[in-house]
Formats: sequence, structure tokens, C-alpha cells
Amino acid sequence: MAKERKKRRSQAWFGREDIYGFIYRSWMRNRGVPGDQFDGRPVIGICNTWSELTPCNSHFRVLAEHVKHGVLEAGGFPLEFPAMSLGETLMRPTAMLYRNLASMDVEESIRANPLDGVVLLMGCDKTTPSLIMGAASVGLPTIGVSGGPMLSGKYRGQDIGSGTNVWSMSEDLRAGKITLEEFHEAESCMHRSHGHCMTMGTASTMASMVEALGLGLPGNAAIPAVDARRNVLARQAGRRIVEMVQEDLVIGKILTRAAFENAIRVNAAIGGSTNAVIHLLAIAGRLGVKLDLDDFDALGKGVHTLVNLMPSGKYLMEDFFYAGGLPAVIRELGENGLLNRKALTANGSSIWQNSKRAPCWNRDVVTAFAKPFKQNTGIAVLRGNLAPNGAIIKPSAATPKLMKHKGRAVVFENIEDFHRRIDDPKLDIDAASVMVLKNCGPKGYPGMAEVGNMPLPPKLLKKGVTDMVRISDARMSGTAYGTVVLHASPEAAAGGPLALVENGDLIELDVAKRRLQLHVPEEVLAARRAKWKPPRPPMTRGYWKLYVDHVLGAERGADLDFLVGASGPLVPRDNH
Ligand code: FES
Repeated sequence: MAKERKKRRSQAWFGREDIYGFIYRSWMRNRGVPGDQFDGRPVIGICNTWSELTPCNSHFRVLAEHVKHGVLEAGGFPLEFPAMSLGETLMRPTAMLYRNLASMDVEESIRANPLDGVVLLMGCDKTTPSLIMGAASVGLPTIGVSGGPMLSGKYRGQDIGSGTNVWSMSEDLRAGKITLEEFHEAESCMHRSHGHCMTMGTASTMASMVEALGLGLPGNAAIPAVDARRNVLARQAGRRIVEMVQEDLVIGKILTRAAFENAIRVNAAIGGSTNAVIHLLAIAGRLGVKLDLDDFDALGKGVHTLVNLMPSGKYLMEDFFYAGGLPAVIRELGENGLLNRKALTANGSSIWQNSKRAPCWNRDVVTAFAKPFKQNTGIAVLRGNLAPNGAIIKPSAATPKLMKHKGRAVVFENIEDFHRRIDDPKLDIDAASVMVLKNCGPKGYPGMAEVGNMPLPPKLLKKGVTDMVRISDARMSGTAYGTVVLHASPEAAAGGPLALVENGDLIELDVAKRRLQLHVPEEVLAARRAKWKPPRPPMTRGYWKLYVDHVLGAERGADLDFLVGASGPLVPRDNH
């Protein structure tokens, strides 16, 4: 045992008999830590993204206490620490701008401190990828605990979902179908408990990815935040991370190519967020796992959407949990040859061992693979002269008849141009037009904001138009829907072809053929390219500058170029 303990990373701090051992231990004792906590037992960091500025994670202090109980019960020494918290609803210009910054905070906090294993507390959209990216670049045993979704929104006897019904009600308001009073009333009915968005938006998608990747315990995706079983899961994770340290089950043994393949298929089966594409690519990049945009298309082929949840369907995460949650979906994939069954998970069992007997209690919420909610709905990767490096569309949230469409471009040069003109009754646009939004990619916005699902012009909404083809280099909220082509790369601000589109150009979308084509002769495009000038960056110093100078394209996960890869857990020097 003593020999085993010597090997622990934390003993390079706490297991010393010199001046450094004094320094490393003595200050820790100031809050009453007994000496036996330094005896070589696993030291577990609990990385907490609690913040009052991140409402979705506001219950995380309680969650952290449950993790601590678990760590102590298993004989570990828990130490909670904060990480930059990214609240989707408040942060401007977009929380995504700070995902990579937060990942740096997490990576360096883990590496610099005497930790043997880490529990990641994650909820609101970007808190999940940023923590996993940071932890992946260090490589210690790591387990993920998601905060859980809110209870279903309830409005005048109806279920309403985060985001999804914000978009639909705001369109109804603009079309004059509901009053401002009704709109305001819905505001307090939608978010009525702790937790993150309860649609299958990006937060619930990423919580599902944590479970599908094997980084979280079974049940992680769907247990509501306020259900006592969420606290039990946190406590079990606290116990389990101690064992993971003892087993040397490091994050790289779980996040293998097989795990990512499972995650991609699960994302297709849950009708998950397009944001998962960017985040999974970025996480894989940290681990050196070969994954590219085309994998999402290839692996998603033949996968059906099984989960009838907003924004693709009608139910919410609470219903998903009562129906059996993600294990019920994973079982369907496993029974239909769409799962790498042997992929190892955090509890030490394979993903198949965890889910092969998972029950489903409501086939209206989680459909059987043989009778799916929607067919063949994996994320489609489009290519063509408008997006040589790729663009994506989420077929499950699109209008089938618009998936093959040719129309004249109505171009918005940037988000301000869009806001200025979209409500103008004189805007030259009809239902067959293709809306094009430029300069909203990683460098352009900056941070690749969720503005790709452009609201439709009121004059068309009033005529009953509910969807149009929209194309941009932006992202879209996981709670949004529509025939929306996203992540066009290279982005406009980097001189991609999107920058060259002009009003009236003919654009062709053909999802079945994976085609996105701008029908403008090459010589005309060359002339436009010669005149093109990059937009002025909105800020020329600090993190914004670092970000714009180093951010990679969407097809590479929009990580910073110098963050790709891992540095491992070693810190060669003492601090005094
Ligand atoms: Fe936090 Fe949706 S705003 S998860």
C-alpha cells in the first residue's frame, strides 16, 4: 500500500519531509484538515462552475457537497475549486468566445495543484466542453457530473421548453398571434426550478455526450436537477473517482475513438444539438483522437432520431428521464449494430454492460429503432463552392420539403445589418429566398454566436411562412429549429466564399446529395474576391485578440491552435 501511495501524484506535494512538504501541508491545515488526509489517499479535485451569473449551475454548491460525501466515504480527500463559469444567457458577445479560455483555466488549475483525480461539475452549454477539454489536456482520472435539466416549463396547461418556445413565442408575438402580456407571463412559467435547459438543447445534448462517451455514470444525462437521484449520482461519482485513481483509469482510457463514435451516433439518435459537433471535435483534438467533420456524416448514416423531444419533437427532459433516459436509447443502438459495445465507461463497465437491460417505460418518448420518431436524421455535412471545408445541417429539425431547394440570396453583411433590416416591410424577400448571414463565425463575431437560426421577416410570418433556408458561418442554439445551414467554413471573416455572396445570387441546397452550391461563375467570384477586405476586428487587445489570432475553423472544433493536444500532468518544479 505504501508503495502504491508513493506513486500518487499528490505525494509530490503532501508526502514530503522537507521545507516544501511543510509549505504544502501547513496552509491546508488552516481550516482544520487532519494530518491523515495527507497520508497518500487519493486527492480529488471537484471542479465547480457554480456562479450566480450562470443560473443553470446555481445549485452546484449543493451538488459539490454530495460529491464530497462520496469522496470521503471512499477514503479520498476532496478539494473543491472554482473554474470560470460560462452562462449562456448573460454572457456577451457569446459564451462560446470564452469556452477555450475556461478550458485553459481548468487545465492549468488541475495541473498546478496536488490532485490525483478530478470530478467535473458541468451544466450550462459551454461549461461541459470547456471542463472536458481542460481535463483532457492534463490526463488524470476524470469523471463528469452534469447538473441535470430543469423541470418542464408549464404555461396555461401546456408544456413549454427552454429556448424552443422562446423562439416560437417570439415569432408568434412578431406575427401578432399573441399579446405582450402572454409573452411576459410565459417568462416566469418557463424556468421554474434549478437546472439547465430542459429541451434537448446543447446542455442536455452535452450531458448526454458525457454519458455516451462513458465519462459520466449511467443516468447522468436526464435525471432532473431537483430530483434527489441527481444528488445520489453526484455522491456515487465522488465514491467512484477514488476507485478510478486506484485503478489508474485515466481520461484517455475512456475517451477513445470508439467512445467518440458512440457519442456521434447517440447525438443522432437523440436529435441532439449541432453544437455537439464543434465540441466533440475540440475534445478529440485535445486527446489526439482522430476525428473529423466527415465522421459525423458517415457515422450518423442509418441512425434514426428515437427521442421525441423539443426542438425536434414535443416532450422535455423530465419526460425523457421518466421514460428511461439515455440508457434506453443506447440499448436500441446496441441492439441494432450501432454501438461500440466494448467501450469502457467511468464505472469500470462497458457501455453495453451498463445499458443492455435498460428499460423503456414510454415508447412515445423513446421510440424503438424499428419504429423511429424520425428516420435517417444524423447530422449532414454539406460541401460545395460555398463551404469547401464543410457546413452542417440538422435534418431532424429541418422542414423536409426545403432540404432540396434553390433560391435567390438575401444577404446580411453582419448581425447589425440583419437586425437593421429584417423587420423592414420593404425588404425584398419571399418564402423561396435563401437568407445568408455573414461574419458570424469564430473570428467574425467573434466567438461564433448562436445567430444562425435567423428569425424570419414579420411580413412572411404574417403570411404563415414558418421556415426558410438560412445559411451562415454561425452556430445555432441547440433549442432552435429550422432548415438552417450552419458552420460554413472557411468563415466569411477569414475570406471564405460566404463573404462573396451578393443579393440575388442563386444558391442550391441539396441535403440528400450533401451539396451547397453558389451558382455564380468562377470569374465573377474571382473579381469579387479581389475587392474583398476583411472586416475590422471589434477589439484589438486582450483575450479577444488572442482568440481571433489563434482560433481554428469550425471544422476543427474552433479550439485555439496552440491548445490542441495535451501537456500531461507533470509540473517539474516546486514553487519556492
Ligand atoms: Fe444554460 Fe440553456 S441557458 S443550459
